[in-house]
Order: sequence, then C-alpha cells, then structure tokens
Amino acid sequence: MEELVFVRVASRTEIPPGEGRSFSVGAYDVAVFDVDGRLFAIENSCPHQGGPIADGYLEGPVVTCPWHAWRFDVRSGKMTLGDFAEIPRFAVRVEGDDVLVSSEPEQAS
Ligand code: FES
Repeated sequence: MEELVFVRVASRTEIPPGEGRSFSVGAYDVAVFDVDGRLFAIENSCPHQGGPIADGYLEGPVVTCPWHAWRFDVRSGKMTLGDFAEIPRFAVRVEGDDVLVSSEPEQAS
C-alpha cells in the first residue's frame, strides 16, 4: 500500500470540541470533527445529495447532515441507520499545533 501524504489544514484551535470544520485538501473538501478531543476526518459531502456534512449537528461521534438528517459515525464514515451509504475517511494527524489530513481517502477497511 502506498504511504499517505499529509497536508496541513489548520491550527488545532480552529476545530472546537464537538464541532466540525471543512477544509480544501487538493481536489477534496474534507470535514474534520473534534469528538471528545480526538479528530476524525471524512469527505465533506453527504452521499445522499452532497450536503455539507461539516455543518451538521455533532452529537458524540455521530453527525446529522444539515440537509435531510442522514446520520453518520464520523469515526468510520458509516451511516448509523443502515449500511447502504458510507463517506470516505481521511487520516488525521496532530503535530504540535498543526492539524494534518491525508491528501487521499484511506482505503475502506
Ligand atoms: S444531502 Fe445529506 S441527508 Fe440529504
């Protein structure tokens, strides 16, 4: 497997606890969420109709799409009410005050 390349997207303080923020990473728009101090990243596009998932309501690790309320676990990208939809995940790293995201989605596990 090819090694992931990481891109700096933000300072750690730009992603508040319990919220999501979106960042451009190459051709991707990536949503980064702070869940109890841990960061998780998924593509910022809901598989339903492309809603901006970073603007959704985050409750624990579950985000509700702001458009039509599909819900996803941001740790896995998987829909919580069925397994017919999934959002690609990106790897996240924190180095000092910098948040880095992989330039490509992770392979589905
Ligand atoms: S676009 Fe997300 S639920 Fe419809």
